[in-house]
Amino acid sequence: MDDMVGASPAICGVFEKIAKVAATEMPVLLTGETGTGKELTAQAIHARSVRKLGPFVPINCAAIPETLLESELFGHERGAFTGAIHPQKGKLEAADGGTLFLDEVGDLLHSSQVKLLRFLQEGTFERVGGQETLHVDTRVIAATNVDLKAAMDQNRFREDLYYRLGVLHIHLPPLRDRGEDALLMAMVFLQQAATTTHKTIRGFSVQAIDALRRHSWPGNVRELKNRVRRAVVMSEEEEITRQDLDLSGEDLPATDSLDSLRAAHQRIETELLIRALTLHRGNMSRVARDLQVSRSTLYRKLKQYGLETITTTLMHPTVTTRSTRKQTDNQVLTKQVP
Ligand SMILES: Nc1ncnc2c1ncn2[C@@H]1O[C@H](COP(=O)(O)OP(=O)(O)OP(=O)(O)O)[C@@H](O)[C@H]1O
Ligand SMILES: [Mg+2]
Repeated sequence: MDDMVGASPAICGVFEKIAKVAATEMPVLLTGETGTGKELTAQAIHARSVRKLGPFVPINCAAIPETLLESELFGHERGAFTGAIHPQKGKLEAADGGTLFLDEVGDLLHSSQVKLLRFLQEGTFERVGGQETLHVDTRVIAATNVDLKAAMDQNRFREDLYYRLGVLHIHLPPLRDRGEDALLMAMVFLQQAATTTHKTIRGFSVQAIDALRRHSWPGNVRELKNRVRRAVVMSEEEEITRQDLDLSGEDLPATDSLDSLRAAHQRIETELLIRALTLHRGNMSRVARDLQVSRSTLYRKLKQYGLETITTTLMHPTVTTRSTRKQTDNQVLTKQVP
């Protein structure tokens, strides 16, 4: 099962929404900055829906020239335009029985927006240059990292389509708002990369952890994953350093207020717990021994910091992925989407 890592309240809210929308047939709108996991979320919804055995067909509206987009999406008939020698199915038809992932939906031209709206309302459309009204059973999940409301105000995006698409809306929070998830993901990505490259790497240095914490992650999870992978490839030591990650450690402005003792205490405990769990791949006896606490104290702390669910992941870092996955990423599920 391809899946998503995270234990912060922000991402757990997303997991709950994924489970809810997966049980419906309605369109979904995913929003969030670049690299926050919109495509992964669309795949997760598809994989949990009754359509899971059907195709998952992505189309990136921003990556296809405007003139070709309508035909890519809805297909065309012979002679529809110069070069249209054969009739061709579009992605909407290719996704029949499954899910169409309409990425960067804000880039759809007006004419395609009208056609899409009609499809969402009536389930019908015509290929470009075609007369025949076609009907397919395709669920639409759309995504955008631009503000569609602003596009709507400037008449670049149809209001009716916006409301139709956005009945079910999931916002992927930026990584900087996900608390300790950056660390947790860094650990998981490190293990995956170490396994792939057959390297023995025990974890991150203290400075590296500090830098991972302080960085503001403008590229979100994609940036984190790339930095960790590159670090694992380049590293010649057993520990990944701040330099391996190419992080200065001075990104987020240092707050001038002091941590309360309690907050500092919790921060240090979380960090130690995550480090020890990674080091011992979730082996609780060893973690308890290293941290010199009883197993019951350890379980209580894990519960207190919402870390119980990460132990299973760390014990089984590599997870089989579906054969239909286009990427080689090995996502693992930390907090099970119910
Ligand atoms: N919660 C997560 N757990 C594990 N991996 C994740 C998670 N979120 C994102 N990723 C990984 O981060 C990378 C970027 O995710 P994805 O492509 O889904 O982002 P996106 O929001 O579609 O980005 P963009 O807006 O740039 O298209 C992918 O390799 C994905 O597998
Ligand atoms: Mg994407």
